[in-house]
Amino acid sequence: HHHIDNATPQKVQEAIRDDNTHAHMPDYEAYAAYCSDGGYARLSALRDGEQTPEQVQEQILSSGLRGLGGAGFPSGKKWSFVRAESGPRYLAVNGDEGEPGTFKDRYYLERTPHLFLEGMLIAAWAVEADKCFIYMRDEYPAVLQILKNEIEALEAQGVVSKGYIDLRRGAGAYICGEESAMIESIEGKRGIPRHRPPFVAQKGVFDRPTLVHNIETLYWIARICREGHEVLSSVEKNGRTGLRSYSMSGRINNPGVYLLPAGSTITDLIEAAGGMLEGHEFKAYQPGGPSAGLLPASINDVPMDFDTLQVHGTFIGSAAIVILSNKDSAKSAALNMLRFFEDESCGQCTPCRVGCEKAVKLMEKDKWDKPLLDELCTVMVDASICGLGQAAPNPIRMTMKHFADEV
Ligand code: NAI
Ligand code: SF4
Repeated sequence: HHHIDNATPQKVQEAIRDDNTHAHMPDYEAYAAYCSDGGYARLSALRDGEQTPEQVQEQILSSGLRGLGGAGFPSGKKWSFVRAESGPRYLAVNGDEGEPGTFKDRYYLERTPHLFLEGMLIAAWAVEADKCFIYMRDEYPAVLQILKNEIEALEAQGVVSKGYIDLRRGAGAYICGEESAMIESIEGKRGIPRHRPPFVAQKGVFDRPTLVHNIETLYWIARICREGHEVLSSVEKNGRTGLRSYSMSGRINNPGVYLLPAGSTITDLIEAAGGMLEGHEFKAYQPGGPSAGLLPASINDVPMDFDTLQVHGTFIGSAAIVILSNKDSAKSAALNMLRFFEDESCGQCTPCRVGCEKAVKLMEKDKWDKPLLDELCTVMVDASICGLGQAAPNPIRMTMKHFADEV
């Protein structure tokens, strides 16, 4: 598997036919149970004209909701970009969740898929989308089965017309989570990122204006519509507002997804996850997937939120927190991250394709050639087309900065 066979989509129907032996079905909230708890009442009311899209957008903006795929772009703003373009418009859901250590979207889909689906249909209503594409990670067979069942229920109940929601399965390429590569893949092509501008809001799926949201973002859109913007805006901690779903793993007692105030520090997060494993001392952490590199345990009083990690040269991204201990090597963790990027680079541009490969070679040496690696990092950041090549140097630079004695 190298550089050429990026994901081309297939209909989920076929995937499930091949795959239905290993889909262990979680006990999730199905359509009837969701409705008996008030589900889809908001969507019906909105479709009946109870509020305008602008009023709902105002609510989303007041909540402070930001894109939870990891970039943190204000979610409400995207609606105006897409609405400003003439139709037909589309909505594309990014369910690729490929960032190592991230599993929050799966968590919500395996429990309350209809909060996501209602949020999606509210967003689709707001931008008058002709069709919704859900691009779902193939590594989540149970989620694919749940969505297939529940989309059928929505069709059977007349909530959506047949074919309005098009469930597509990815094929395991990390780059297909990059939104423009995802769109290429939805169109049936090899998934490689596009240049921008134009942004996908202007030219997305089949060159039509496309609203792209992550699964969890849509989950929160439904909750905000149902519970009011206060569900996020009333939560304050350490000068930050809102909640984050942290995917916690590594050397902790209880790995899992933790919904905590956005102002939580790494100390709070470790405590919520049951503390460090016995015999392990907190040494370092990955704050937001490998794209965000590694921080030392000494940086422990920063709210783990959008923007706040910038002073330390990194970001929270999709809030994929991996805890390392004194039994782990920062150097080999960083090398592992670069091997991942080398493997997942789509190969379209030289700084990333060749840069990742060279970086791995340099990092495999006992002693790192720091000036050379630094120069390579600069080229990759400055000249790569997409976020993969631009972020790949983060683990290198942060390891040189914070774990200099190891490299
Ligand atoms: P980005 O900042 O380029 O874009 C974020 C969103 O805002 C996109 O939908 C983009 O189209 C839109 N946007 C930005 N500026 C715009 C403008 N002027 N007009 C219209 N739309 C605009 O970030 P990107 O590259 O999409 O995402 C990077 C993040 O993805 C990283 O922070 C990383 O943490 C995260 N990530 C998450 C993964 C996951 O599995 N959840 C996997 C890999 C990375
Ligand atoms: Fe492909 Fe890497 Fe270039 Fe992105 S930066 S387009 S992943 S080669």
